[in-house]
Amino acid sequence: MKYNFDRGFNHDIKDSLKWNTVKRISTKKDVIPMWIADMDFETVPEVKTAIIERASQGIYGYSEMKDEYYESLAGWTKKRYKWEIEKEWLCFSPGVVTGITLTIRALTHPGDKVLIQTPVYSPFFGAVTRSGCELLTSSLRLVDGKYKMDFEDLEEKLKDERTKIMVLCNPHNPVGRAWTRDELLRLGEICLKNNVTVISDEIHSDLVYKGHKYTPFASISKEFEQNSIICTAPSKTFNLAGLQSSNIIIPNENFRREYKIALENIEVSRLNVFGMVACETAYTYGEPWLDELLDYLEANKELVKKRIENNIPKLRLIEPEATYLLWIDCSGLGLSDEELKKFMIEKAGILLNDGISFGKEGKGFQRMNIACPREIIEEALNRLEKAVNSI
Ligand SMILES: Cc1ncc(COP(=O)(O)O)c(C=O)c1O
Repeated sequence: MKYNFDRGFNHDIKDSLKWNTVKRISTKKDVIPMWIADMDFETVPEVKTAIIERASQGIYGYSEMKDEYYESLAGWTKKRYKWEIEKEWLCFSPGVVTGITLTIRALTHPGDKVLIQTPVYSPFFGAVTRSGCELLTSSLRLVDGKYKMDFEDLEEKLKDERTKIMVLCNPHNPVGRAWTRDELLRLGEICLKNNVTVISDEIHSDLVYKGHKYTPFASISKEFEQNSIICTAPSKTFNLAGLQSSNIIIPNENFRREYKIALENIEVSRLNVFGMVACETAYTYGEPWLDELLDYLEANKELVKKRIENNIPKLRLIEPEATYLLWIDCSGLGLSDEELKKFMIEKAGILLNDGISFGKEGKGFQRMNIACPREIIEEALNRLEKAVNSI
């Protein structure tokens, strides 16, 4: 391996939300943070070098997105996913959640309904309700250890003429599905039939395990392309979340105009200069690094899977197809959600995300971030096994 993912990073970095939080919330000194979705790995070396070079210029005035930025993103999506993006489709946002929220605001009127599939990344809830819209949820169904969309329920809820938008999570956080083309096709057709626009959050698209595939929603057909807004970012893929740079891809001219007005209304007029440098460099040079990262994550996932299967049978891992976030059914422990949270921190000494924060379907679940050196995973598993088996 060319890159050393075993090395991790320096936890003394003063402003790491992931590491500082454990110090704040727990009386135990060495709780392992496996919660928020960023990685304990240094980013692509070329990105670090490019940022240092740009920083050394000492000029950080207003900047503009250059063609090279678009070309790097378009080159990436074409090469990896055979999805061709046109230059004018590319809009920006500091964060994907900002992009989703602004799109909802741009394309709805107060009181309109917006549908999400739960359990799901929790800021989706606020993106809808804080925009003055009514939240509709469609529960994903867990069938034989795998989450499925409930198409009957979707048909019913999307045909309500007040439902204007559906926010899709593709691949899905936290259940780890990389939706198949057939599933997306069926969903997209229901949306088209009912004039419901799809905002597809594809921030985890590059993080897919062997044997599975990410399908860009907009790449399925011209109709889907014109009926969707696709949100991507290099932040999860290359560990750049702090640089606040996301791509909001809007092929439909009318949606794009409304989105740009929504951006102007909150006076967000340009990207952070270091975010732009990082994004362009990562998409241009980051592929070999990502390919090795994916192998490393695959091995981390297998390690957790085997250990849970063999040694911690009270827990059940939902086998992920994508994302470095593992969705673990802890209902076998017989604890309330409050007790479960306390148990993980105080007894097991690991900080995970509470399943219930992703919606009521997450009751009894925890989400574990495995994007860290194997040594940390092993220590976390030792602690978890000991704590669970002592119940
Ligand atoms: C599905 C999903 N969307 C969006 C985000 C956050 O994106 P941003 O920080 O760009 O708003 C996350 C972060 O974990 C996520 O999992």
